[in-house]
Amino acid sequence: MNRRALILDELGLSPVWVRKEILAELQAKPVEPVHVAVASNSPAPRPQGFSPVAVAAHQALAPLVSSPAKFTPPPAQILPANDPVEDERSLRIARMNWEELNAAVSTCTACPLCEARQKTGGQTVFGSGPMQANIMVIGEAPDADEETQQTPFLGDAGKLLNNMLATIGEDEQVYKANILKCRPPNKRNPQAAEVLQCAPFLKRQIELIQPKTLLLTGRFAMKTLLESDEPVSVLREKLQQYKQIPLVVSYNPSYLLRNLPDKSRAWHDILRLKAALKNSRH
Ligand code: URA
Repeated sequence: MNRRALILDELGLSPVWVRKEILAELQAKPVEPVHVAVASNSPAPRPQGFSPVAVAAHQALAPLVSSPAKFTPPPAQILPANDPVEDERSLRIARMNWEELNAAVSTCTACPLCEARQKTGGQTVFGSGPMQANIMVIGEAPDADEETQQTPFLGDAGKLLNNMLATIGEDEQVYKANILKCRPPNKRNPQAAEVLQCAPFLKRQIELIQPKTLLLTGRFAMKTLLESDEPVSVLREKLQQYKQIPLVVSYNPSYLLRNLPDKSRAWHDILRLKAALKNSRH
């Protein structure tokens, strides 16, 4: 009640009944200067000529607002560390045309994989397929043979993928690319630092191709584009989106070669892809 009266008084909403003894107490209290922070963050001069009640209202409000001396602006929004979209290199990549992107990939030295590449005389694997692709398939990284031929998804894994796409009549208009454009040694998994440096290339490829649908094969592709830690088995269950492009999550064909029971699940994913493609054509 006391505080409410003070605030109303300050707002010019008097007369308000104030108990006499409280008023006497307020009037007897020495007034300390109080500044009220203003939006511009510049010190507000203490208002002169206010009644003791009004000044006391300032005091009552003091704990609720900060004085200019103590005012600290709210911290800037903190982006996730190493946000690939925010750093300068990523922004540069995001403006490249196809040729520039291809050249930047082939001369990239952003992660230690380039040392292995240079030592072994290896090459980057940019991607393969038509630019007008309906489907863009995204995998993990090239193996040794794919590196030599600079083509992703060769060998048995590639054959399996092609056969699955052929069953829905979509093995032609497909662009294939990997998260990593360099081959990791000894068939090891991509490492976070490598993915971080390489992901802007893939994101720009997607932007330039603008496929009607995306097929992400395996957890590394999924984690990179969907930024999710859910397992493939969960995210594959429904249609996802990446920048408004319908996206199907499925198992990596190399994994399917070793885990036959998941093949039938992958088959359902391909049917989901077909449905997504059909809807995108309307
Ligand atoms: N071959 C590729 O190029 N990528 C994969 O993810 C698997 C096989």
